[in-house]
Amino acid sequence: MAVVILPFHDETGLADVLASALGAARGELELRSFPDGESYLRIATEVRAADVVIAGSLDRPDSKMLALYLVASTARDLGARRVFLATPYLPYMRQDARFRHGESLSAVHVARLLSTFLDGLVTLDPHLHRIARLDDVFSIPALAASAGEAIAAWIRQNVPDPVVIGPDVESEQWVSRIASIAACPFAVLSKTRRGDREVEIRIERQDVDPARTPVLVDDIISTARTMVMAVGALRASGTKAPFCVGVHALFGGDAHGDLLRAGAAAVVTCNAVAHISNGIDIRPEMAIAVARLLAGFQS
Ligand code: R5P
Repeated sequence: MAVVILPFHDETGLADVLASALGAARGELELRSFPDGESYLRIATEVRAADVVIAGSLDRPDSKMLALYLVASTARDLGARRVFLATPYLPYMRQDARFRHGESLSAVHVARLLSTFLDGLVTLDPHLHRIARLDDVFSIPALAASAGEAIAAWIRQNVPDPVVIGPDVESEQWVSRIASIAACPFAVLSKTRRGDREVEIRIERQDVDPARTPVLVDDIISTARTMVMAVGALRASGTKAPFCVGVHALFGGDAHGDLLRAGAAAVVTCNAVAHISNGIDIRPEMAIAVARLLAGFQS
């Protein structure tokens, strides 16, 4: 079966890597805005009878979701057999609980929406907290690749005597795995979030060995307040300057500058979302997961 990879707001070259790893055709998508802000799009590659994989991250999703729907619908109009999405960043997954009456469970609604017009999707380290599994909210096959091995390899190559630090209890699931692959210890801090930019971090459960170099690892860096406060707490406890590693470099406003000024030794992110701090390549992990997704449809 022919597979066509269509780049969609693809600033990291994900489509090229997927096409080459899967032996698939790299398609051409023309996508631009009309002067009134509506989207013009044209799929300039034959997709009749093909499996189409739309490749690109869904950061800043509010401006991308409708265009994504139009690309998927157009591919079907043109005869595509199935339409998949490969998005390293899956948006809205943190909105997974109603803390005040009337709040939207956006994670559930976005998953439902994507399930209506896709046949399956692959993402990378989605933020799963109160929603335990992607299958709990998606009604289509949804696979999660992991940046854990790529991050562990980066730590091994770049940080002598590391200790991997998670900024909150939610992060224990991935920092414990990364530390195990990197063959080093880990610790988890305690976080209280009181608002978008109001974050407190405490070092509670164990001291961090001051002889080791802390590597803070989080799935998402958005305002960077979590990382900024974690860097401050670690430095106040007498550690070396921490490295800060993020999977999804959302970085609103001057969050990246704030984190550098807070005293991080370096800020390094995965190329799940294009950003100047990208230094860890997760596209091969995405390619493996996309191959697995497609294989599931052959059997
Ligand atoms: C929260 O549960 C996530 O794992 C991240 O810690 C959080 O999204 C980071 O956000 P910010 O950079 O705005 O503190």
